[in-house]
Amino acid sequence: MNSEEDSTAATRSLSTIAVHGGKRTHEQPFGSVVAPVFHSTIYGFESFAEMRRYARGELKESYFYSRYANPTVAEAERKLAALEGAESAVVTSSGSAATFCALAALCEAGDEVIACETIYGGTTRIIEEVLGRFNISSRFISIEDIPNLPEIARERTRAFWFETPTNPTNRLVDLAQAAEAARVANVFSITDNTFATPVLQRPLGHGINAVMHSATKYLGGHSDVTAGAVAGTSEYIARVRRIAVLTGATLDPAAAYLLARGMKTLEVRVRASCENAMRFAQALRGHEKVSRVYYPGLEDDPGHALARRQMSGFGGVVAVDLVGGEAEAERFLDALKLVRCAPSLGGVETLVSYPLYSSHNGFSDEQLRAAGVSAATVRFALGIEAADDIIADVKQALNSIDFKNSEHRTQDKNNDVLSSES
Ligand SMILES: Cc1ncc(COP(=O)(O)O)c(C=O)c1O
Repeated sequence: MNSEEDSTAATRSLSTIAVHGGKRTHEQPFGSVVAPVFHSTIYGFESFAEMRRYARGELKESYFYSRYANPTVAEAERKLAALEGAESAVVTSSGSAATFCALAALCEAGDEVIACETIYGGTTRIIEEVLGRFNISSRFISIEDIPNLPEIARERTRAFWFETPTNPTNRLVDLAQAAEAARVANVFSITDNTFATPVLQRPLGHGINAVMHSATKYLGGHSDVTAGAVAGTSEYIARVRRIAVLTGATLDPAAAYLLARGMKTLEVRVRASCENAMRFAQALRGHEKVSRVYYPGLEDDPGHALARRQMSGFGGVVAVDLVGGEAEAERFLDALKLVRCAPSLGGVETLVSYPLYSSHNGFSDEQLRAAGVSAATVRFALGIEAADDIIADVKQALNSIDFKNSEHRTQDKNNDVLSSES
């Protein structure tokens, strides 16, 4: 029996879908429980007649050339579609490739993309620099402006792109409100669900048209695979897949295997990371060297009520503003012993990053202000280690720094940003 024949599959919980979703038991030789990796780039036909049927699109599921389709890649796609509650999904060679394909499938010369200004910097650059070269224009709006999309959108506006929670300061977008505004505006809505994952929120259920992922983060989960994904209706995903196949943005089977394996433990990893993030945020709130903690799990956080409504957990990312600026951030990061400074998130290990020199490097002062990022901002992506060990490491690093003797003044964050940029 394969997963599609199992009539109870639809009612199963997310953790069960994560482990079993996407399987095709008949593809597993010798009754192996884990599907093998299909490295073969080519697939032969039994006969000329079979080749003709394939060419005419008459064979429902068959393989020909790995860039077009591959059994291991297909398993990862079925699993992600099941997790997001989508009709279909396509996986790509990176999150950035997923973003490009998702938008290229919607837009042609003369069209426009509207995006929130609080999205991943690489996405902004794809929209402005890459799509811009093909005469696809763009505008960036604030989260507060989303309800006004029907007035903001023009006749040629095709897509609205946003993230929730945002990086790094965890601002939230109301998914149902965004879906409705885009629907009234007659614009296709896409959200980057990398930070929340389907464990914490399933945007399609709120009326969002499609979901994109940097699967390099939580979906892969072990900081050892670069991948991306788009999930949505079968009709839309077929269009995205065509762009991915034609541009060679499809995923390699070895990477797809790691991705599918990572997704099996998605639920337990995300829950563990959320628990750690909550304890971490509570431990740093009120610390004398921390002026602000950004975490929607804290009851006084501006996003708390909305997070409770649309998410089943508050996420694994916590941002803080240190008392001080770049000099304090430098001393703090260099004093950490267990937590590594690296630019990603969503892996089993806790990481710290400095947005000014990573995700938001090169942003204008105005863009930084819109993103809520300053020279004092430090982002933590909590892993699944014991929270006490992470908190102890971060506290020793904070305490080892004599902030009073630093050459930087305190709290003049935006000036620090300006001086580092100029
Ligand atoms: C929210 C978000 N979206 C998209 C991307 C791009 O994904 P990738 O690095 O897999 O291309 C990233 C990468 O950091 C990200 O954080």
